[in-house]
Amino acid sequence: MKNILVTGGLGFIGSHTVVSLHEAGYNPIILDNLSNTRENVLDGLEKLIGRRPVFYKCDINDIIVYEKIVAESGEIAAVIHFAAFKDVGESVEQPLKYYHNNMQGLISLLTAMKQFGIANIVFSSSCTVYGEPDNVPVNETSPIKPAVSPYGATKQMGETVLRDCAWLNTQCLRYFNPIGAHPTGLIGELPLGVPSNLIPYLTQSVAGLRPPLTVHGGNYPTTDGTCIRDYIHVCDLADAHVAALNRLLEGKQHKTFEVFNLGTGEGSTVLQVLTKFEEATGLKPEYKIGPRRPGDVVAVWADPSLAESRLGWKAKRGLPEMLRDAWNWQTKQT
Ligand code: WQD
Repeated sequence: MKNILVTGGLGFIGSHTVVSLHEAGYNPIILDNLSNTRENVLDGLEKLIGRRPVFYKCDINDIIVYEKIVAESGEIAAVIHFAAFKDVGESVEQPLKYYHNNMQGLISLLTAMKQFGIANIVFSSSCTVYGEPDNVPVNETSPIKPAVSPYGATKQMGETVLRDCAWLNTQCLRYFNPIGAHPTGLIGELPLGVPSNLIPYLTQSVAGLRPPLTVHGGNYPTTDGTCIRDYIHVCDLADAHVAALNRLLEGKQHKTFEVFNLGTGEGSTVLQVLTKFEEATGLKPEYKIGPRRPGDVVAVWADPSLAESRLGWKAKRGLPEMLRDAWNWQTKQT
């Protein structure tokens, strides 16, 4: 089995990708500093893959750990790099925390990869790089707008660093809005503290753990006044990482740096999501319309055709399944 180092592998997307990697016959090795997740995610992973994955509790800047991992695990065929902070609002309040972790962390990782001759990387990027797009849906050649947050800037700069490291083979994956959970409810999204993202806040408020949802803005120029996003099931996203990894390891990529949008191609407003949630679960979420949230774009959704043609990947799960799985996960939280 080929060893794949998964940084941030106990996080939301990382943990689901560990399952998909195992199912595809790879050996995922997890590196995580537990800054935004819990070690007991390993328990869910053990139940899902039938063995406890190898886990190194450390920070991506602890560069001595890479020597230990290579010594203990043998050759690393590729790295999937999730480990980064991702809260847009927090990045505005604490830019240096984001530049240190997301940029210095990436540079530490790449330095170690060069030292150990690891040339393949799948990079977690984001639709945030498009800012407020002039046209939707956005494709991979849509203009990159000035970042509206330090978080978005770290994703844009991360892509630039990877493009400039021509010795690397990079698959750069721009996620739209990952939501949902594994259908078993054994792993899911574990935001520590008050969730800033829509779905974890919604499920926690419906579960009675939070006050009712505040919809950030009801007077945008959209069909119902609320923002539009392209929500994608986290399991579809995980499968896309395996497709990108296969492309790398089978030597099928056309150039050293390739970018793919990972979305469904469908845009949904916040209120449409709430309606779908009620249809999927029978539960009617309480909400109120509040002020707009600084940094929000009005509407962004993907043209996912390049990933379909080059990766042979297409999202399979629709919004009802995403919301049902998100709620199922919530009901299993103690
Ligand atoms: C979605 C919509 C909010 C919370 C961010 C990152 C992106 C990616 C996903 C990492 C918006 C509205 C939200 C709430 C609300 N992260 N909302 N009430 O901001 O589109 O994207 O997370 O990969 O890079 O930028 O996601 O879930 O925060 O917001 O009305 O309590 O829900 O205004 O319209 P976002 P989100």
